[in-house]
Amino acid sequence: MAEAGKRAFETLHCIACHNTPGTSEKDPQKISFSHVREKFAPGALNSFLRKPEEHYVWIRMPNFKLTADEAAQLAAFLELSADKPKSVRLQPTG
Ligand code: HEC
Repeated sequence: MAEAGKRAFETLHCIACHNTPGTSEKDPQKISFSHVREKFAPGALNSFLRKPEEHYVWIRMPNFKLTADEAAQLAAFLELSADKPKSVRLQPTG
C-alpha cells in the first residue's frame, strides 16, 4: 500500500510543494508531512487528498482527482513516515 503511495507521490510531483516523507529533506520553502497523523483523524487524510478544496476553500493545494485507491495509497505512505501523534489530555475548563 505505502509502496504504491510512494510511486504515486513521485508520479504526481507532490515533491514540487512538499518535502518527501521518510527522507531528511527539510526545505523550509516546502510543506512538511510530519504532522499529518496529528492533524488528521484516521480516514480524514484520505478524504482531504481527494478533495482538498472542500476542506479549505482557500487552499493552494491542487485537486489531483485521485481515485479512492490512489488516495488510500498516498495516505498510507504519508502516515507511515509521519511523527506519532502526541497523546493529548483534555483539561476541563472553568
Ligand atoms: C502546487 C503545490 C502543491 C502540490 C503539487 C501538492 N500540494 Fe499538498 N499542499 C499544498 C498546500 C499549499 C497545502 C496547504 C498547507 C497549509 O496551508 O498548511 C498542502 C497541504 C497538503 C496536506 C496537508 C498537510 C498538513 O499537515 O496539513 C497534505 C496531506 C498534502 N498536501 C498532500 C499532497 C500530496 C499527496 C500531493 C501529491 C499528490 C500534494 N500534496 C501536492 C500544495 C501542494
